[in-house]
Amino acid sequence: MKLEKMAPKCGVEISGISLAHCSDDEMRAVKQAIYEQGVAVFRDQDFSPEDHIAFAKKWGGIDINNYFPLENEHPEIAVVKKEPDQQTNIGGAWHTDHSYDQVPAMGSILVARVLPPAGGDTMWAHMGAAYDALSDDLKQQIEGLEAFHTADHVYNEGGLYAQTDMGKSLRGQDVRTGAVHPVVIRHPQTGRKLLYVNSAFTIHFLGQTREESLPLLQQLFDAALTGDNECRLEWKPGTVAIWDNRTTWHNAINDYQGHAREMHRITLTGEALAA
Ligand code: SIN
Repeated sequence: MKLEKMAPKCGVEISGISLAHCSDDEMRAVKQAIYEQGVAVFRDQDFSPEDHIAFAKKWGGIDINNYFPLENEHPEIAVVKKEPDQQTNIGGAWHTDHSYDQVPAMGSILVARVLPPAGGDTMWAHMGAAYDALSDDLKQQIEGLEAFHTADHVYNEGGLYAQTDMGKSLRGQDVRTGAVHPVVIRHPQTGRKLLYVNSAFTIHFLGQTREESLPLLQQLFDAALTGDNECRLEWKPGTVAIWDNRTTWHNAINDYQGHAREMHRITLTGEALAA
């Protein structure tokens, strides 16, 4: 197995491994690389929906997404799909999957099924590197703070997606979510400090209104993207990406209008987060 960094502070490409047939030792090494680097990319994988589910179960549990369409024969798999005539994509802004759950998903396994002729890359940003790069003053301001996260404004009837041409493709408009997490968490496996707010789902600090919270939240959202803590993946047939939702934000770039893109995603069960 060979590991090559995708960027100085985020992401690793792992070759010499077949995810569908990986040993326990390889699984341990893959997990550790993802906990540390945030995301791992695997090329030329022969990875059927059954392999996808079996790999996720071998890692831990599966969290079924509330909103995305589910694959007909494999309801463990969420379908992240954009049709050629749709303008809006799923996940086209920086976010962290499922931070609106009190026990948020550990990570996600995304498999390319249909790709546009060009574009449709995914970007990740490392929240450990983001935290490290904050000024001492900002670190002091957020020490001990907790924040409220929800997805209601994104997925409910009247929410952001309902106002777009993606609205009709999604489920769960009546689902209500809400969770409180520390603004700075410790990674459950590595112990590294991570900035755990994201502009999609983090609404306000505990004990403050949205209005009171926004200036500091916006400062953190801006500071979290330093350029050198980001990496970018150009998908190819057979590419699989696995990322840690505690360690990273991600963003699906919507630059392929007129073409289809379909990805299969399984979200991995996580654990409660602590400062
Ligand atoms: C997502 O999980 O947000 C989608 C990522 C992608 O489609 O690249």
